[in-house]
Amino acid sequence: MLYPQSSSSRAMISLDGFWKFAPDVNDDGEQRGWPLQLPADREIGVPASWNEQFQDLMYFFGTGWYEREVELSRQLRSERIWLRVGSANYLSTVWVNGTEVGRHEGAHLPFVFEITDHVRWDGPNRITIRVDAAIAADRLPPGDVEDEQIVGFKGQYPNNYYDFFPYGGIHRSVTLFTTPLSFVSDIQITTGIDGTDGKVKAHVGLSEGFEGACTVSIRGTQCRSSVEIGADGAKAVFDFTVPAARLWCPEDPFLYELEVRLTDGDGQVIDQYVQTFGIRTVSIRGTELLLNGKPVFLTGFGMHEDFPVLGKGISPAVIAKDFNLLNWIGANSVRTSHYPYSDEFLSYADKHGLLVIGETPFVGFVRSHYQGTAILNKAKRVITEMIERDVNHPCVIAWSLANEGDTLAPEADAFYEALYSHAKSLDDTRPITIVNCVDVEKDVALKHYDFVSLNRYHGWYEQAGRLDEGCRILSEKLDRCYEVLGKPVIVTEFGADAVAGVHVDPPEVFSEEYQAEMVTRQYEIIRQKPYTIGAHVWSFADFKTSQTPSRVVVNRKGVFTRDRQPKLSAHKLKALWGRGSSKKPSRT
Ligand code: GCU
Repeated sequence: MLYPQSSSSRAMISLDGFWKFAPDVNDDGEQRGWPLQLPADREIGVPASWNEQFQDLMYFFGTGWYEREVELSRQLRSERIWLRVGSANYLSTVWVNGTEVGRHEGAHLPFVFEITDHVRWDGPNRITIRVDAAIAADRLPPGDVEDEQIVGFKGQYPNNYYDFFPYGGIHRSVTLFTTPLSFVSDIQITTGIDGTDGKVKAHVGLSEGFEGACTVSIRGTQCRSSVEIGADGAKAVFDFTVPAARLWCPEDPFLYELEVRLTDGDGQVIDQYVQTFGIRTVSIRGTELLLNGKPVFLTGFGMHEDFPVLGKGISPAVIAKDFNLLNWIGANSVRTSHYPYSDEFLSYADKHGLLVIGETPFVGFVRSHYQGTAILNKAKRVITEMIERDVNHPCVIAWSLANEGDTLAPEADAFYEALYSHAKSLDDTRPITIVNCVDVEKDVALKHYDFVSLNRYHGWYEQAGRLDEGCRILSEKLDRCYEVLGKPVIVTEFGADAVAGVHVDPPEVFSEEYQAEMVTRQYEIIRQKPYTIGAHVWSFADFKTSQTPSRVVVNRKGVFTRDRQPKLSAHKLKALWGRGSSKKPSRT
């Protein structure tokens, strides 16, 4: 799915800002005619969750209605008009001037509806978006799951079964954009390396019925090719060789620009779209993760899209701050725990050379999710949406298809194999993993995956207060995991809660000293293993969770506070990681 773009043939209108808002406390807004007129005087900020913008909405997990008006210039009358929502949690319905134009299930990924036939040119257009944020067992991630397996989250309020707050609302930008009648509908780029040359394959999708020339070029190179498209052609494939290519990597995140141009029989430019991309390869060789054929060790964090007042809403300033801190501390990578992050986050990572494991929103699946095909089909659809959105990001070096599902249940074998096969069928250029939190000796799913991701809390949830014992057991468990599975391992989560300002010596749980000692000692243990490919501390910053006795308002495992101030562990990790963090010590 192409990200909206202004160009000589396309226009964009941002609808970010203040919208009218009404909580649908009786869930009967549609019957009461709210798609035609929203009876609300409350104004809310978009993009952002509704929960922290108003005290009375903090624990509102129902349906919220948004409305705003926009007038369109008559200069756009000959164009096709599209409405795009970057993400809204969870079930969205959109009306334009009272006519329903589409529905979308799922948070964390964008949806686009064509609204050309529903816009007015003689006055304001009313856009209404209904967002149903209900917590339910068949949503991704699941909530309100009744299953004996779920011990940790039983009884938390609200009753979502994952460890982050179930925010509701329009979390990413809302945009109107135009395309010509015939347009470039999709671009999927894969890259390879042949000696010093870059190999680039571009699959270009075109709107139905386009007839004319499709010309693709890579700016700054001699690469250029044109094909004639007949009425039946909706796809064109282009192969290029870029001599002496500048490879994308953390040290030099160079981005090329692939320009696609459609011209009619008279040579008039119909549409143009420019897609950035990086020439790089990612692979697993033995126990190594290779970027452009060279081993890389992933040093960094699991994160959340979470900030005070914004909730899960994105902000360019918060993205810039987080990248500044990741650079400051010496991290080279993150996992988008536990859902696809914003387009804007990934584009920033492309430009600044951060390596990213892109994760689906499948947290905490239990046996009941493996029964039948309803959840499996829904999960496959989300994987398709995620890969189609993110395939061109060079920063995304791997996919994580699930976090801490029940991978002991016999049904998990076929379920996770099906997810792996589906993802591989869409993208065979990136290694794929799932994140395990149970005993690997009884795990039935990991054998289908390219590398192993482990969440391990020895010294916290187990051996609390006994760091020496926890470190010893972590080391032993890692060795056993490699013995059993023989695949490279990243520890995707390890860490401890620390309440900023609590200092205890000798270190005790919840103190900054205990967290600092745990994450630095365990990072070194993980990195020294010959079969590890990464160590991600949990977590980058404190983040909001549901209420439960083990959470001091927020999850305190951040090495930064929720408002991004460093704890002792941030300084200790900075000293440890420096700039050489992406290199493993020599294996000799
Ligand atoms: C789990 C889970 C995280 C959670 C963390 C914790 O491993 O993946 O989402 O926040 O543990 O308990 O802090």
